[in-house]
Amino acid sequence: MSSRPPAAGSDTDAGAVEAAVSAQIAPSPELLERVARVRTELVRRVEEAAKARGSPLVRALVAGSAARGTFLQDRLDIDLFLLFPPELPRDRLREEGLALGRAVLTEPETRYAEHPYLRGKFEGFAVDAVPGYAVSDSAHPLSAVDRTPFHQAYLTERETPETVREIRLTKQFLRAIGVYGSEARTEGVSGYLVELLIVRFGTFHALLTEARRWRIPVRLTEPDQEPPRLPENVALILPDPVDPHRNVASALSRRNLGLLILAAGAYLDRPSEQWFEIALPARLTRDDALARIQVRGTHVTVVTLPRPDLVDDTLYPQVRKAGRAIAEELTRSEFPPLGWALAVDGSRVYLVFEVPHSRRSAVRMQDGPPAGIDRVGNFLEKWTSPEAPLLQGPYVREDGSLAVETRRKEQTVEEVLRGVFPRLSLGRDLTPSDPKEVTIQPLAEVAESPGLLVALRELLDKRLPWLGRPSPSRA
Ligand code: UTP
Ligand code: MN
Repeated sequence: MSSRPPAAGSDTDAGAVEAAVSAQIAPSPELLERVARVRTELVRRVEEAAKARGSPLVRALVAGSAARGTFLQDRLDIDLFLLFPPELPRDRLREEGLALGRAVLTEPETRYAEHPYLRGKFEGFAVDAVPGYAVSDSAHPLSAVDRTPFHQAYLTERETPETVREIRLTKQFLRAIGVYGSEARTEGVSGYLVELLIVRFGTFHALLTEARRWRIPVRLTEPDQEPPRLPENVALILPDPVDPHRNVASALSRRNLGLLILAAGAYLDRPSEQWFEIALPARLTRDDALARIQVRGTHVTVVTLPRPDLVDDTLYPQVRKAGRAIAEELTRSEFPPLGWALAVDGSRVYLVFEVPHSRRSAVRMQDGPPAGIDRVGNFLEKWTSPEAPLLQGPYVREDGSLAVETRRKEQTVEEVLRGVFPRLSLGRDLTPSDPKEVTIQPLAEVAESPGLLVALRELLDKRLPWLGRPSPSRA
């Protein structure tokens, strides 16, 4: 018989944990019944409003997790889809959708994704009223939400009360490790992806047992059935059963999938209810961050920009791109970052970079031509003129070629960044109309703000969340 490590969990431990958590997070029969009533009532009211307005509505339906009972109670929102004829122009679709939403929801508030939708209330529930097109082929949607009714049909056909429980359990686990949600801000696992994974593997436990052995990129399909045009850094490939050209996991980042794979193994080795608890992130103040940098012998530089008026799903990818561009520029300028992070608050965008040192030398080595060629004359003339910013040379190097060492104007990382900033292409939205709106400062000179602290935590407090805090001597 093989022996297990002493503290490791057995499948029965895991079974008990999963049963207990399932029971805790299951919506009560009363709540499920209220949701079911509201679903029918919402559709009836929308149809009535459509008739009264003479609206071309084809069909109204509640889809998403509220339609299938796969929601987490404290994140329940009802997704109401309003489907219109494919011929309807987009501006009319939007107009009609918003009007019907307003007719049935209270406290309506327009929100934006690919096209506007309405967030409001209905009998105490949060409802998203989303307009879309009633297409007949889910592989040829006209808008991003047109596959939803097909998802709804596909999943309801395959789900049972058992799989519904396993889906909620999986969502709660993913949420606790911080990888649930396909918004651009999170880059995690969408609710629909969770449901497909459970339909495929059967249980939370079976899914984790598979996932602990996954290697990125993970292919859950045959190579010849892969959706086309996958990005180079794709993490997980699972074609949408209702539209095989689309990767359901396209939003999931490699970092989050890596975390999920590791968490799967760690949970299976030591299952406990703690894995499903949402912990508040530890606070890291600016002074804590400065103390860490001191110990690490590094330097942190902070770039802030005014927050453009964009929805998060548009804003986050742009800020990430800007961060990458700045990090590359730092590498070229002798400040290769050890890490960088971003955060956004109501008014500003923060990008923080940890670099090995705050200044570089004043010396720049400039290669000259090899001795004996004509160009040597020009080179010497240029570098012996009294105005040349010369520190040493010209001289002959070991390999027989000429060189000079010149003086650089910008030595601190902040000076360097300020110098290159106007040349960096940050995209139209992130480039402020007034360049003075960009600040580039050492961390010690930046005022503390919630956005800054989020970025600092991601920069200087990285650790697998289930390991707990390190001992103070390492902090
Ligand atoms: P939601 O994001 O609300 O997901 O999208 P959900 O399945 O209801 O899960 P939770 O519990 O709220 O987190 C609702 C539906 O919209 C479609 C899917 O069919 C999903 O079930 N959808 C959503 C997409 O097709 N693509 C997306 O990117 C997001
Ligand atoms: Mn939903």
